[in-house]
Amino acid sequence: MSTTKNINITLKIWRQKNAQSKGNLETYQLNNVSTSSSFLEMLDQLNEQLVNERKEPVAFDHDCREGICGMCSLYINGRAHGPDTGITTCQLHMRMFNDGDTIYVEPWRSTAFPVIKDLVVDRSSFDRIQQAGGFVSVNTSGRTMDANAIPVPKADADKAFEAAACIGCGACVATCKNGSAMLFVSAKVSQFALLPQGKVEATDRVLNMVRQMDEEGFGNCTNTGACEVECPKGISIENIARMNREYLSASATSDK
Ligand code: SF4
Ligand code: FES
Repeated sequence: MSTTKNINITLKIWRQKNAQSKGNLETYQLNNVSTSSSFLEMLDQLNEQLVNERKEPVAFDHDCREGICGMCSLYINGRAHGPDTGITTCQLHMRMFNDGDTIYVEPWRSTAFPVIKDLVVDRSSFDRIQQAGGFVSVNTSGRTMDANAIPVPKADADKAFEAAACIGCGACVATCKNGSAMLFVSAKVSQFALLPQGKVEATDRVLNMVRQMDEEGFGNCTNTGACEVECPKGISIENIARMNREYLSASATSDK
C-alpha cells in the first residue's frame, strides 16, 4: 500500500543575481508536493511554477541525481544535504518533511566556494587541488601490467576504496566552522597513499595538494569532526590523521 501523500510547504530560498550582488532569502509557497518526489524534483516543481508566473527560476546545481557526481550542494534547514544522514541532496526525499513545514535552502557558504548565482557555488578550487597532485603518472595504454600482479594487503585495499568514495561535493567544507577542506584533501591523498601505485609520487603529491589547499583560502582544521558527521559518503577523519603523517614525513624528506 502506497503511503505517498501531497503536502504544502513554504520555501525560504537564497536568491543572488551574481557573485558581486548581495543575496537575500525569498519566500515561496508550493502546494501539492508529492512526498515520493525527491528534493530536486520539488525544486523542479517550484521552477515550473515560477516560469508559469513569468518569474526567474531558481538556479541550483545537479547532474547524476543518484549520489555519484557530488554536484547537488545544498544547505537545507541548516544542514549540508539536509536532515537525512549518509545521502546527498539528490537522494533526499520529500517524505522527510511534513505538511505546513517551512524549509530553508541556502548555498554552501565558504570563502573558497563563492556563489555564482542563487544556490550555485564555484567549487573549482577542488579541481585545482586535484590537479596539483590527485593522480598517478602511469601508462594506461598499450602494454600495462595486470592490476592483480601487484599484491595489495586487503586492509589497505579496503581503506583506499573507502577514501576513493569521496565525490567532491564540498559538504565537509560547508559544515566546518573553519571552512576547512582537510577531509576532502585527505581522502584524495589517502586513496593513493595506501596503494603501491601511489607511493612513487607520494612526497610531491601531499606537499602540492596541501599547498594548493592553503592557497585557495580554506580554513584550518581544529578536529571538531563535523565534516565526518555530514559527509554523505562516510569518509572518516582517520584520513586526516593519515594525511598529516604523510605531510610530516614528506616535509622531512623533500628538498623543495
Ligand atoms: S569528504 Fe565527504 S563531504 Fe567532503 S567532499 Fe568528499 S564526499 Fe563530500
Ligand atoms: S546530483 Fe549527482 S550526487 Fe546529487
